[in-house]
Amino acid sequence: MHEFRYINNRLYCEKVKVEELARKFGTPLYVYSYHTMLDHFHKLQAAFRSVKPLVCYSVKANSNLAILKALVDKGAGLDIVSGGELYRALKAGCPAQKIVYASVGKTDKEIEEAVKKGILFFNVESLPELENINRIAGRFKRPVNVALRINPDVEPKTHKFITTGKITNKFGIDFAVARRILLLRRSLCNIKICGLHIHIGSQITESAPFVAAIKKVIAFLARMKNEGVTLEYLNLGGGLGIVYDNEKPQTAVKFAAQVLPLLKRTGLKVIMEPGRFIIGNAGILVARVLYCKSTPRKRFVIVDAGMNDLIRPSFYNAYHQILPIRYPLSAIRYTEKVDIVGPICESGDFFAKDRRLPRLKEGDFIAVMSAGAYGFSMSSNYNSRRRAKEVMVVKDKAFVIRKRESFQDLLRNEIIPAFLMGL
Ligand code: LLP
Repeated sequence: MHEFRYINNRLYCEKVKVEELARKFGTPLYVYSYHTMLDHFHKLQAAFRSVKPLVCYSVKANSNLAILKALVDKGAGLDIVSGGELYRALKAGCPAQKIVYASVGKTDKEIEEAVKKGILFFNVESLPELENINRIAGRFKRPVNVALRINPDVEPKTHKFITTGKITNKFGIDFAVARRILLLRRSLCNIKICGLHIHIGSQITESAPFVAAIKKVIAFLARMKNEGVTLEYLNLGGGLGIVYDNEKPQTAVKFAAQVLPLLKRTGLKVIMEPGRFIIGNAGILVARVLYCKSTPRKRFVIVDAGMNDLIRPSFYNAYHQILPIRYPLSAIRYTEKVDIVGPICESGDFFAKDRRLPRLKEGDFIAVMSAGAYGFSMSSNYNSRRRAKEVMVVKDKAFVIRKRESFQDLLRNEIIPAFLMGL
């Protein structure tokens, strides 16, 4: 469910015409629906109500401060993967005790900072990292909490770049090593191993891989219990898929029906780390058609947003629905097959290929749908393009939550050494 819909052939976000936003704020423009985002958060919380999970929104999906603040205000925790995300999480007002920290490559500085701030726990991805956290934790008075990220070796049936729970992936710790670590835990005297974590991949549309992974972890927990190890948390990670095209992903309720009986048997506190599920369908990227160009083999619609604004089609060959912001009846009669492309000097700079769309003309606006997750957060300044403006719509009001970058922003950290200035 999302709050982007046509009313009288005009695309609306909540109660605001997207065209008005495009004209007022310019393009490329990210538009987020506040209520869609909260609705997804509440749906997940409600479906898992009986185990009172801590839902830690995955900051990487969209790290805008306003989005983090909106979710934190409703009780969300945050899942972070870097010192920068820790900084953002705290700035957004997230209590440190609701922050969990994953990543295969945490630096000493990042670990120290997170310990100082008192985060809930680290999701640890290897034995050397665990030993390093133990060493750093020695400088602090209290033990540092960690969860072991297990690599359960399951096939999540998603794009290979976002598959993380197979044994050939760089993430997590296999069961045999995890067992050894748990049995040796007392020798790591500055840390407390308080839970297990899994995150098997992203945009997973079936429950089966989650269930398979959770079952494996639960069997492991039982085995460890027999060997005298008791834990407090089970962190299920993120990965719930959404609709981009004609996927039929599990709903929060169906997902809960499958996994709750398993979770309840463990008696552990449950943590979840959804990113895309919360923000994916709550955001769109709005662009303006600059030129329409026909070549002997193709018709190109060239828009003012590019792969620097939304890299998912280029990087994962991801499908995003494209909608005209006005949908006059004539548009339905006259359709054509086009490539929607950006202005960047790469043939990989496209949003759609051979897509049948109502005829577009120069000056029209289009919406690239379901761009809320891994859209802005993966954007760049490639081709010295300024990153887009972002607005959040709340019913009939729109709030700018990030200004468009300026040309000065592009140069801010660059230095011409004195010798080049003839000094
Ligand atoms: N937890 C951990 C440890 C993660 O690595 C991730 C995502 C999440 C939670 C949130 O996953 P989600 O619920 O959003 O699926 N850029 C890619 C997706 C990369 C996902 C990385 N990890 C894309 O655009 O599809």
